[in-house]
Amino acid sequence: MLDQANQLREKMMGKKSEKPERKPVKKTRVLAVTSGKGGVGKSNFALNFGLSLIEQNKKVLIFDVDLGFANIDVLLGRTPRETIATMIEKDLSAQDIIEEGPNGLLFISGGNGFNDLFQMDDFKLQKFFRELSTLQGQVDYIILDTGAGLSYENLRFILAADDVILVTTPEPTSITDAYSVVKMVHGKDPNVHMKLVVNQCISTKEGLRTADNFKQAAEQFLGKEIGALGYIPSDSHLPDAVKRQKPLLLAYPNSEAAEAIRRTANEFLQLRVPYKLGLKGFIMKILFK
Ligand SMILES: Nc1ncnc2c1ncn2[C@@H]1O[C@H](COP(=O)(O)OP(=O)(O)OP(=O)(O)O)[C@@H](O)[C@H]1O
Ligand SMILES: [Mg+2]
Repeated sequence: MLDQANQLREKMMGKKSEKPERKPVKKTRVLAVTSGKGGVGKSNFALNFGLSLIEQNKKVLIFDVDLGFANIDVLLGRTPRETIATMIEKDLSAQDIIEEGPNGLLFISGGNGFNDLFQMDDFKLQKFFRELSTLQGQVDYIILDTGAGLSYENLRFILAADDVILVTTPEPTSITDAYSVVKMVHGKDPNVHMKLVVNQCISTKEGLRTADNFKQAAEQFLGKEIGALGYIPSDSHLPDAVKRQKPLLLAYPNSEAAEAIRRTANEFLQLRVPYKLGLKGFIMKILFK
């Protein structure tokens, strides 16, 4: 009798292990690329950083949320069929507005037509973000290319993201504006994880010095730790790539700036920042905070 029971148990255990394993759901991290001052190189960084992550076998979607001045499509030399603006106008699904760029890079273009997503009525806003939630598990990273500065809209995106990359140049005006962003964000939520990228450096030394001063000021005055993720040199290949409407990583893959952006992406992938809430959490925060 005991034998029979054991046999039955073994059989059941065996059966259990034969069960097809559930495929783990891919976590989708939301990363905001932002800055204090405008024109520091956010959009180009977001685009080429995204392509660098793709080189590391990640699936990436760039979401252009600089709605008044969306230009990821311009940097890619593409005219999107649909945009966030037309999605709302024509009641489209998120899948309808996703475009595929080079190397499998997905992107959603902001388009023109409205410049404040959060001015939309609650019903439309919820529908929009519900649609966006269908991307959960489809990509590893959603990179938000935000506008510059501390608009209400930017702040909401920054506060809801898993990670924030703050881009500055070594110019004092850019640094002080970036610092204002940190101060404001930290005041609202001290747990936001922010990293600094110094773009358009004349030398690595200048990049290091800028990041060091920034880090010290944030620590001393706010008690906030902001490490540097990377330094991108000022490189004439970048404006050239912009003119050619081709991402730097594809137009000049071996340029100094392209290599530096790759290093930044590698550094980012080494970070062991605990996964917070991902896309679902991002949407909950955007809608209900
Ligand atoms: N590393 C670099 N080396 C040389 N030029 C650069 C570099 N990064 C950016 N630029 C120049 O700065 C311009 C603006 O870059 P970009 O559009 O990415 O800035 P942005 O921060 O997104 O601007 P906005 O605040 O208007 O959204 C580029 O077209 C390019 O000419
Ligand atoms: Mg931009």
